[in-house]
Amino acid sequence: MDKKIRILGIETSCDETAVAIVDSDKNILANELYSQVAEHEEFKGVVPEIAARLHMGKLEGLIETAFKKARLSLVDIDAIAVTAGPGLIGGLIVGLTYAKAMAFSLGKPLIAINHLEAHALTARLTNNIEFPYLLCLVSGGHTQIIDIAEFGRYKILGSTLDDAIGEAFDKVAKMLNLEYPGGPQIEKLAAFGKYSIKFPVPLINQKNCNFSLSGLKTAVRNYITKNKHITKEDVCSSFQHTILHVIQNRLLHAFEIFDQKYGNIHEKTLVVAGGVAANKFLKSNLTGFASSHGYNTIFPPAKLCTDNAAMVAWLGVEKFKKSEFADLKVAPKSKWSLEEV
Ligand code: KG4
Ligand code: ZN
Repeated sequence: MDKKIRILGIETSCDETAVAIVDSDKNILANELYSQVAEHEEFKGVVPEIAARLHMGKLEGLIETAFKKARLSLVDIDAIAVTAGPGLIGGLIVGLTYAKAMAFSLGKPLIAINHLEAHALTARLTNNIEFPYLLCLVSGGHTQIIDIAEFGRYKILGSTLDDAIGEAFDKVAKMLNLEYPGGPQIEKLAAFGKYSIKFPVPLINQKNCNFSLSGLKTAVRNYITKNKHITKEDVCSSFQHTILHVIQNRLLHAFEIFDQKYGNIHEKTLVVAGGVAANKFLKSNLTGFASSHGYNTIFPPAKLCTDNAAMVAWLGVEKFKKSEFADLKVAPKSKWSLEEV
């Protein structure tokens, strides 16, 4: 039997300072997170300098708490996995430097993690799935469909040409004077509304997997400004239905590509991840849609789909098994495509 491996994961690429310890049996022994949302709120976006300073201030405490919760001491971990990119360079430097110092002083290997690859493989931590599978990543920052061919080999089938889907939810919510983040608010109101407004479905005639949300956003804005008496519930329901059609239409092409490439593998899996995947209307409809095309659908828990360090530690486990260690000289990369890992 293989020895159980325990990995410490550190994530500081954006505005969440996160630390986790995960073992090779898929146990999440600790998963600590400090969200900096409140500190960036007044600036209406993440301020890189503030983010880096907060990572510096919070990291040590989170690491101490993680070891306490896992009932482990520093010597019990097998390696330190840390996000080395892509992300805000200041934050990456803080996390990577901390991890390097720990690896050097403990005499443990360092593992450099691509943040997007960590998102892409989270479903292997939460479920027992094999390669290949399709990943539909829908969040506030990303909207992509990716062919997760095998470990280390990923092909982006399509991306958004403008806004991310979560961003579109947030912007429409703002037009309706709903609270931020808008996704959950729109979902709530939509439950009481009718799908009565036919907004355009962007790119519907294009045979590819790209997304475009800006036209839909403008259509919603025009509807709101042109009509004096609107029912917010109906706008939310109609917008949400349109988003469903957009995703289904793009997935249709992804299924075609995947089916053609892999023929009839006996189990076809679609993983839907990212903040928007928390939407129950989308979840139930996409599950039914994928099933009618022969795909099982997995929605990893929201807590592991949004930025966290458990995904970083888990990719650390996968890389440890393949002895993919980093040199202490490894540099952070603010840009680092999933296709280049
Ligand atoms: O993955 P995530 O937490 O972080 C970023 O990528 O920033 O995604 C956040 C996004 C926000 O735009 C939020 O409005 C959206 O996910 N979201 C939802 C729902 N819950 C969160 N969108 C639609 N329906 C929801 N229930
Ligand atoms: Zn992320």
